[in-house]
Amino acid sequence: MKKLWIIANFKSNLSIQQTLEWIDAVGPLLERHENIVVGFCPRFSALSEAAKAVKVGNYPLHVGSQNVSPFNEGAYTGEEAAPFLKELISFSLIGHSERRTHFAETDEMVSEKVNRVREAEIMPLVCVQNAETPVPAGCEVIAYEPVFAIGTGTPDTPENAEKVSKQLVDMHGKINVLYGGSVNKDNCASFVKEANISGLLIGKASMNPEEFVAIVNECTLVVQ
Ligand code: PGA
Repeated sequence: MKKLWIIANFKSNLSIQQTLEWIDAVGPLLERHENIVVGFCPRFSALSEAAKAVKVGNYPLHVGSQNVSPFNEGAYTGEEAAPFLKELISFSLIGHSERRTHFAETDEMVSEKVNRVREAEIMPLVCVQNAETPVPAGCEVIAYEPVFAIGTGTPDTPENAEKVSKQLVDMHGKINVLYGGSVNKDNCASFVKEANISGLLIGKASMNPEEFVAIVNECTLVVQ
């Protein structure tokens, strides 16, 4: 039985209050399942309150960051370093295509960020845009997110996503590949049914608590 990661990426959306409302709406509806990992990535300034709310509610939710500094603590104005994030998160998105496009993030920076989070014992979740994107050593979970599918309402086909995921698995060995790009409650199962797709990274649809819970439920049926 494969294990699935279902990860919400709020991007630069949702106030702290809205994030807490999301947690209160989603948390009580999630059942603990040994083959499903459910996580969400709020904005940096909502992380602390989010982590607290998950702990108080004892919800089966993992908190992740959307980014991390390529440096540890020190004179790096405006950056969030892994040793500090460690108090709040268990995983970190790294190398999302929006960071590469809007913030000039390079493969070298992605690799440094992976090093920093691994040193802090935080799981890196590196986003790759295709099978040619470098995957730093030590990554166990990555997300295939084709740029054409992100936020467009036009997902990749499950067949092509499976083809790319298989290529990534063949190239990088024991690695779990998530699919991301215009996933919603109606198409989610078609991706996770594929042999080499081990979960989903969801942007827009994840911000609606009912839709996110529906996605988790659809995926749970696939691994039951
Ligand atoms: P989307 O975003 O689900 O809104 O397409 C996915 C992502 O960028 O992680």
